[in-house]
Amino acid sequence: MSLALTLRINGQARVVELDDLRTTLLDLLREGLGLTGAKKGCDRGQCGACTVLVDGRRINACLALAASLDGAEITTIEGLAHGERLHPVQAAFLAHDGLQCGFCTPGQIMSAVGLIAEGHGGDDPERIR
Ligand code: FES
Repeated sequence: MSLALTLRINGQARVVELDDLRTTLLDLLREGLGLTGAKKGCDRGQCGACTVLVDGRRINACLALAASLDGAEITTIEGLAHGERLHPVQAAFLAHDGLQCGFCTPGQIMSAVGLIAEGHGGDDPERIR
């Protein structure tokens, strides 16, 4: 049994055919669509390396079934920059060496972007940390 999904990914409408209804959003993005910015770390919702935005909110893509997201707007790390112009959070990570090995950096950036977009940034730097 397959299912056709209509998604908006990084601003582009995409129709995706799911052959396996158990496919996670992370596997769809990485293996089905070639968007490998979101990483598979723990694959169980603990590390955040797979964080993307769905309808503007952070989710762990490894825990989301793609089949449940028909009509959703999805933003991945690949969709943040506008050409050569980085998103301010990307630029801040770069300017302040905000990475170690870099594997989970896309997830950290997406989490920070989501946190701000969700209105949790506030004036409390400690909360952001
Ligand atoms: S891969 Fe670790 S939370 Fe998804």
